[in-house]
Amino acid sequence: MYSEIKFFKNYFTKISDNFFILDNDDSYSVNFGKQWRDHRDIQIDSINKFSLSYDYLNKMLFSNIEILKNKEILEIGSGAGRFTEHLCQYADKCVSVDLSSSVFYNISKNKKNVVIIKSDFTKLISNKKFDIVFCRGVLQHTPDPIQSILKLHEFVKEDGYVFFDIYKLPKIGYLHPKYILWRPLIKTFVKYENFEKFLRKRIKILLKIKRIIRKIFFNSKFISDCFLPIWDYKNYYNLSDYNLEKWAILDTLDGIYAKYDYPQRNNKIINILQNNSIEIINNDKNIIIFQTKLKKN
Ligand SMILES: C[S@@+](CC[C@H](N)C(=O)[O-])C[C@H]1O[C@@H](n2cnc3c(N)ncnc32)[C@H](O)[C@@H]1O
Repeated sequence: MYSEIKFFKNYFTKISDNFFILDNDDSYSVNFGKQWRDHRDIQIDSINKFSLSYDYLNKMLFSNIEILKNKEILEIGSGAGRFTEHLCQYADKCVSVDLSSSVFYNISKNKKNVVIIKSDFTKLISNKKFDIVFCRGVLQHTPDPIQSILKLHEFVKEDGYVFFDIYKLPKIGYLHPKYILWRPLIKTFVKYENFEKFLRKRIKILLKIKRIIRKIFFNSKFISDCFLPIWDYKNYYNLSDYNLEKWAILDTLDGIYAKYDYPQRNNKIINILQNNSIEIINNDKNIIIFQTKLKKN
């Protein structure tokens, strides 16, 4: 059954009153779908009894989480819903969009004020605008991050805000071994499923080796990352050894198997925003987070 949603001009396949599909195909996000299907719970605060996702959300909102209160929010690239569960606590309505089949596993998909849409967000045609557009961990994984950033701003009201981040380009740019060595090597020769099996089996020893390398090289994250592309959050997040292993598996898969990965430099994003009549309200250049709004004509 085809259906409209007041926020967009597109026609969607209606699965239920709060679940709509524009793209049946996962397209380039197919590995994200697998990732969130098999590792959904790892970053969900309510399941793990921690507040890491809440704290990160608050950081993304420049410590002003109250800004979400009673708002209509568009969340782009929601994954398993680590942020959806908090956005919908505050929001009047939270519309969460993801291209991958992660939408079927979103932890908050049955919440009354949540609407889930399976769609490439760049295909959505704006109709009624949102108070807040939120997009975290997504833009570098789209084919054209700059166009994606501009697209986010099509969905926001004149007096609303867009909050987004984009991963930082390493100092040596795409010469980082992650890009010229590890990713092409692993992606070409090892299927996602096999690499996941390998990680599940060997993660303890891989983390051990990584930490030894790091110690030898004066605690340099950069050098240890060059030797071994395993994501390690020890001393970064306060997680048990068990959870550190789970996060390492999830984020290593995320880091290696994303089809597109175009991290950016902060200054470049500032220039793009300034050249497109977008006002920067807040910017954290260390993790490249922005709060922006449309410039009034
Ligand atoms: C690294 S995950 C981040 C998920 C979540 N925001 C988080 O921070 O945990 C990136 C997500 O963006 C989604 N994504 C990528 N391109 C997209 C697009 N064009 N439209 C909608 N979702 C997209 C992927 O399917 C994936 O679930």
